[in-house]
Amino acid sequence: MSEILINLEKMGNIYNCSVVELDKIHNRAGNITPVSSLVSIPFPIKRVYYLYDVPGGGVRGGHAHYELQQLIVAASGSFDVIIDDGRNKKIVTLNRPNYGLFVTPGIWRDLVNFSSGAVLLVLASLPYEESDYIRDYQEFLSYKNGKKNNTIKY
Ligand code: TYD
Repeated sequence: MSEILINLEKMGNIYNCSVVELDKIHNRAGNITPVSSLVSIPFPIKRVYYLYDVPGGGVRGGHAHYELQQLIVAASGSFDVIIDDGRNKKIVTLNRPNYGLFVTPGIWRDLVNFSSGAVLLVLASLPYEESDYIRDYQEFLSYKNGKKNNTIKY
């Protein structure tokens, strides 16, 4: 089995978080977007979850992850993802189901401006694990400033 080694320090900046265009199978009766592990996205999918029924003005996110990689897709409606690596910030608007934002480990994210009926779909590289979260912004900055060549292996 081949091994993928990921350098967390190099990966955790907003310039490695890109919007990727996914396949779209057009049909007059409706479109399909298939997403495959390690083909459409650079990690094996271990978990899928979706966020919906966000009340008007609702804000989600407000955390970073040590190891988790994610592809965030607006399966329906739209919202903004504010990504922050401790040095730079960027706002990415997602509003089409065949585009996703790849978020590397070590990125603080805030999810804002949800349209009514928005569905935020997440394809994630790891099972849910609370110990992978950084929920305090100062702790996030300390982690980013103190981090040395950590790697994760698949
Ligand atoms: P959280 O990831 O903080 O939500 P968001 O980023 O959308 O604001 O998760 C909110 C709560 O849901 C938290 O208590 C943990 C729980 N949760 C799970 O149990 N499993 C999951 O896969 C996720 C994503 C969250």
